Amino acid sequence: MTTNSPSIEARKAESVSETLTVTDNRTGKSYELPIQEGTIKAIDLRQIRVDDEDFGLMTYDPAFMNTASCRSAITYIDGDRGILEYRGYPIEQLAEKSTFLETAYLLVNGKLPTRSELDLWIHDVTHHTLVNEKIKTLIEGFRHDAHPMGVLASMTAALSTIYPDARRVDDPEVRMLTMVRLIAKMPTLAAWAYRHMLGLPYIYPDNDLSFTGNFLSMMFRMVEPKYQANKAVEEALDVLFILHADHEQNCSANAMRAVGSSRTDPYSAAAAAIGALYGPLHGGANEEALRMLRQIGSVENIPDFIKKVKSGEGRLMGFGHRVYKNFDPRGKIIKRMADQVMDVTGGNPLLDVAVELERIALEDEYFVDRKLYPNVDFYSGLIYEALGLPAEMFPVLFAIGRTPGWAAQWNEMIQDSDQKIARPRQVYTGGRELDYAPIASR
Ligand code: ACO
Repeated sequence: MTTNSPSIEARKAESVSETLTVTDNRTGKSYELPIQEGTIKAIDLRQIRVDDEDFGLMTYDPAFMNTASCRSAITYIDGDRGILEYRGYPIEQLAEKSTFLETAYLLVNGKLPTRSELDLWIHDVTHHTLVNEKIKTLIEGFRHDAHPMGVLASMTAALSTIYPDARRVDDPEVRMLTMVRLIAKMPTLAAWAYRHMLGLPYIYPDNDLSFTGNFLSMMFRMVEPKYQANKAVEEALDVLFILHADHEQNCSANAMRAVGSSRTDPYSAAAAAIGALYGPLHGGANEEALRMLRQIGSVENIPDFIKKVKSGEGRLMGFGHRVYKNFDPRGKIIKRMADQVMDVTGGNPLLDVAVELERIALEDEYFVDRKLYPNVDFYSGLIYEALGLPAEMFPVLFAIGRTPGWAAQWNEMIQDSDQKIARPRQVYTGGRELDYAPIASR
């Protein structure tokens, strides 16, 4: 379906003749390992053994700090230069010129659609936004104060019971239908989780509206027969979805791939991805960032807050990134979107706190030395709050945006002949061959 860009193929061809020579000082033996695409294969280390009994050398890499878990042609990031591209297209251009659904097509299909391909794609996604009525009954079972991410993860998993065919993961048509369903139904589930929190009636999808306009309608429509979102707000939210659409091997994409690698259905894998996204170090950071801004309250409290962070009392939420060590290109675009939304909704005093916090942190040695910059979550929470959303909904909006990325990552993994069920090794550190003692004698 997709091909690598010529530059990557060229680099691959160049690197096949490159090797790494390793000498095992335990035995004095040397080994020549092929280097391909800037990597050595961890399995090639297994031949390095002290004797026949030895299992062979492994790498120890908690949190995959320096391990490529796959080859991928979906998203390119250069963290030092602040570059993010989906299928080779810079995020800045997509944010300015594309729409979320077109970007979703790009991620899933590997190329920009023609007019007719895009029309068909929009038609397909639009006509799969309804969810089975039983889902409503399930949502009703949750307490009114259930976190909507928990509700979203559960409902996404529940879709696997409604579409049992989705487990036929080797069938490309079934895979495509499931990806369309995931992208289409996520806003409906998200909006219904929100309405449940507020005790409001659920709103059905409106096929006359855009993907994002329909989401806003399902969120906010009351008794009016038709909901028309403010255009500037609708556009800003669409851009936010584009910015969140994929981010290569992040925690939730890795969860999607790892769970999907057992050949389970993609709804179950997406539920796992939502669980991963929920955490405060990942998609939950936008919720935490807003709570932090509220806790700081006003500009004069910032120096004290920074002092506390520097002495190890908590983190500056919405700052720092495993990959970006210069700036997060999404952070720059999102700041512009915050201004656009607040022009419509009116200012937010917390925006002043955020801007000042960013200014002070970017000049502070602690943050400069550690290369900590605002990430996508620093300003997104402010936008969501300006839309009148409670903080619990922030990671849910992230999940809507990230769904095409999860789908594309999963689809690529399923077709990758290098992949097998994800199953890391471990370094065992516990006791061995202990004698079981009866409870009375312990
Ligand atoms: N505030 C204060 N200090 C920080 C922060 C922060 N936000 N982030 C990292 N540091 C410090 C660490 O304490 C550490 O300092 P040390 O070297 O003195 O021990 C150093 O910077 C390196 O931090 P690590 O935790 O090793 O960096 P890692 O790459 O593992 O973590 C992460 C990246 C999880 C994003 C981290 O920066 C963080 O917790 N940020 C806040 C949460 C957040 O905004 N997450 C959203 C990420 S973007 C996303 O998922 C969409």
